[in-house]
Amino acid sequence: MAVLKVAILISGRGSNMQALIDAAHQPGYPAKIVCVISNLAEAEGLTKASKNNIPIAIVNHRDFKNRELFEHELDKRLKDFGAELICLAGFMRLLTPWFVERWRDKLINIHPSLLPSYPGLDTHKRAIAEGVKFAGCTVHFVRAEMDHGPIIIQAAVPVYPDDSEETLAARVLKIEHRIYPDTVLAIAEGRVNVYQERVFIADSVPPRESSINPI
Ligand code: GRF
Repeated sequence: MAVLKVAILISGRGSNMQALIDAAHQPGYPAKIVCVISNLAEAEGLTKASKNNIPIAIVNHRDFKNRELFEHELDKRLKDFGAELICLAGFMRLLTPWFVERWRDKLINIHPSLLPSYPGLDTHKRAIAEGVKFAGCTVHFVRAEMDHGPIIIQAAVPVYPDDSEETLAARVLKIEHRIYPDTVLAIAEGRVNVYQERVFIADSVPPRESSINPI
């Protein structure tokens, strides 16, 4: 099977980026990280990516007159790296409809809440304040509206009465690191389909022989 070329966009720490890099290093994983691009030169993730011998690039939004010019440069770099799928991993820039449409269904994001609940910032703080009993994370295809788009995979964790924003964030982050590589795997295997803005994931388990365990 051909290997899917994946670009990761970051602005900060890059722990999800690292989880994707680690997964791609597993033998037989059908995706390769072709580049990590940050809009901030000081993003911690860039050092981690370099240590893993992943090509890095900085496209600083402040160097451009407007969003469109910034995104044209981003788009050019992504094409030059041969990216076929873009993973947003803590990338703190809103993308315009032009960019989002150009990469439609090839652009995914991870968000630390069970969308459509708690889009935007301070998700854990808001979840705790409202007393929800479960929190979680979502990987979704990106649409023009922030933290919005067809949901691919979600995972949930309990919220405990004594949770702080930090303890909850740490619990959620752990499962983020599992579902993001799982999502890329499913996409790379060609099992993820979007139909009428809903995602359907084809079964990865081979059909059982009819002679065995007939139902
Ligand atoms: C993660 O919580 C992710 O869900 C959100 O931003 C955070 C990035 O963290 N979009 P990291 O840079 O991957 O460590």
